[in-house]
Amino acid sequence: MPSITEDVSIGNLGSLQTLPDSFTWKFTSSDSAVEESVPVIDLFDPNVITLLGDACKTWGAFQISNHGIPQKLIDDVESLSKTLFDMSSERKLEAASSDKGVSGYGEPRMTPFFEKKMWCEGFTIADASYADHFLTLWPHDYTKYCGIIEEYKGEMEKLASRLLSWILSSLGVTVEDIEWAQNMSRGVIRLNHYPVCPEPERAMGLGAHTDSTILTILHQSNMGGLQVFREETGWVTVEPVPGALVINIGDLFHILSNGKIMSVVHRARVNQTRSRISIAYLWGGPAGDVEIKPISKIVGPVEPAIYRPVTWNEYLRIKYEVFEKSFDAIRVVNPT
Ligand code: SIN
Ligand code: FE2
Repeated sequence: MPSITEDVSIGNLGSLQTLPDSFTWKFTSSDSAVEESVPVIDLFDPNVITLLGDACKTWGAFQISNHGIPQKLIDDVESLSKTLFDMSSERKLEAASSDKGVSGYGEPRMTPFFEKKMWCEGFTIADASYADHFLTLWPHDYTKYCGIIEEYKGEMEKLASRLLSWILSSLGVTVEDIEWAQNMSRGVIRLNHYPVCPEPERAMGLGAHTDSTILTILHQSNMGGLQVFREETGWVTVEPVPGALVINIGDLFHILSNGKIMSVVHRARVNQTRSRISIAYLWGGPAGDVEIKPISKIVGPVEPAIYRPVTWNEYLRIKYEVFEKSFDAIRVVNPT
């Protein structure tokens, strides 16, 4: 058998017959998933606020049904993603993200934090430069595809705001209690593709991490792979529920809540026979020098703030320096 060169292009992973060493992870028995499921919450449920609050406190992740996002729109973004990832590696690399902007094709941003490579390719839609990449990829259809993305962003932003209000309400506060709530930067969309993998039990789609966001809205196609970590149980697979969307609570919400709600540690596993697509809407923080800190109505003499104020850019810088230790970096040593 010819030896696999270590210089593997992420655009071609799906055609590999053997797992290259640079993609071979070490797993232990604690990596096996347990029989548990994250809550599925119907947004029409009269107790929706309590249900969301409980899920945020005990899991940091849950699925939602009756969310109001048209299925046709979700299907359109999914098929756009399929068209993109089906292209040749050379073609995809023409749309690679560069120093000029974060939008574009490439490997996961957190790649440098792991010893081994992840079995994943993706496309980030952050700033307007994504449209230039779309023009390169789809010279004829790019207006149509940009339209789909803009519509999806709009719908996701509305849903994220609704969820924020409800979850805050479960904590006894409102959006008005966050000074910068009207000054939120727009969310980022990340299209993820996990090609079929010759040895899925030794490979990782996306390594364990928390999202830096307030919250992330994730569509996973009818193919599972997402796992969330819970201290009490270990890794739990989030089985796809037709029509439901997954919500992951991010670091920013954990900080705002003064640690009352969790940002969930999660990862993605891969599959030997079927590739998988996921579409993440990462709803970020405020632009500029606005300070993020525990909501003042939540903290007080009885419950002092456990985190110091930090700007969104500063937090992201810290996160990309120390990764999973980012909360420690902003923790108040002796809260009073
Ligand atoms: C993510 O963490 O951004 C994606 C997880 C997934 O693909 O399920
Ligand atoms: Fe994530």
